[in-house]
Amino acid sequence: MSSDSTKKTVLVAAGVCFVCAILVSSTTVSLAPKQAVNKTLDRIQNILAAGDVEANNQDPQLIYKEKIKPVLIEVESGRILDKSEYTADLNPEKFDIKKMVNISEFTYQIPSSEDKAGIKKRPKYMVIYEVIGENEGVEKYIFPIYGKGLWSTLYGFISLDKELKVVKGITFYEHGETPGLGGEVDNPNWKETWKGKKAFNEDGKVIIQVIKGKVDQGSPQAEHQIDGLSGSTLTTRGVDNLVRYWLSENGYGPFLKSMREGGNHEKI
Ligand SMILES: Cc1cc2nc3c(=O)[nH]c(=O)nc-3n(C[C@H](O)[C@H](O)[C@H](O)COP(=O)(O)O)c2cc1C
Repeated sequence: MSSDSTKKTVLVAAGVCFVCAILVSSTTVSLAPKQAVNKTLDRIQNILAAGDVEANNQDPQLIYKEKIKPVLIEVESGRILDKSEYTADLNPEKFDIKKMVNISEFTYQIPSSEDKAGIKKRPKYMVIYEVIGENEGVEKYIFPIYGKGLWSTLYGFISLDKELKVVKGITFYEHGETPGLGGEVDNPNWKETWKGKKAFNEDGKVIIQVIKGKVDQGSPQAEHQIDGLSGSTLTTRGVDNLVRYWLSENGYGPFLKSMREGGNHEKI
């Protein structure tokens, strides 16, 4: 076969493709366990950051085991699931929002009139996290939140104090907003401004609000308002909507109400 024959060219090209395909697929397979471990670690670090849990240079996984207790709740009723109800899919340690919304028995289709977060569907059950304090009591609660920004769905966590009234922290662990604009949701200085803000009024109505522009620190509203992200009105509006949705009666409201009334406690 002459070295510039069509047959030889095709054979060499096919051989190169075959070798490359083997290399790419074996690399993908061999890296999969590492990626899964990193994903879990990233989730844990975000939960700890949202809960403002000090890591003190310790292994985040150890801190998580020691201080965080995941609990499954039925969103609509706020009921805490008993461990006997856990299954392979419905399990707080393996809970995956994206997976759950694709399992029809676990999905709630959100009517458009309710869908402030722009997500169309949400899991019927969600995992929430209790932060256990020094004397074994619950110090804070951490709630998963997600909703549409400008370019993407933002996924994160918000934490509330043990009275379930004041924000203790917020993080977003996944989004596709523009760095320097909507991507400023990751700015530590901005996230810091959430701490101590009042999420609810005395009647339990959601009052936290991310506004367009800067909060007037002298106004009475400052205790429940957050600065908008400059040049990013649409991401700002998205964050405002998703936080308010998840804290409302269509989100964690029933759970918040029953916990404030002292219900649910004995089941945890
Ligand atoms: C390349 C590019 C990326 C943008 N990324 C964002 C973004 O991530 N979030 C956002 O709200 N607006 C983003 N914007 C701006 C929006 O298109 C829109 O102009 C803005 O949200 C309006 O808000 P403003 O009134 O604060 O300017 C981007 C604009 C451009 C040109």
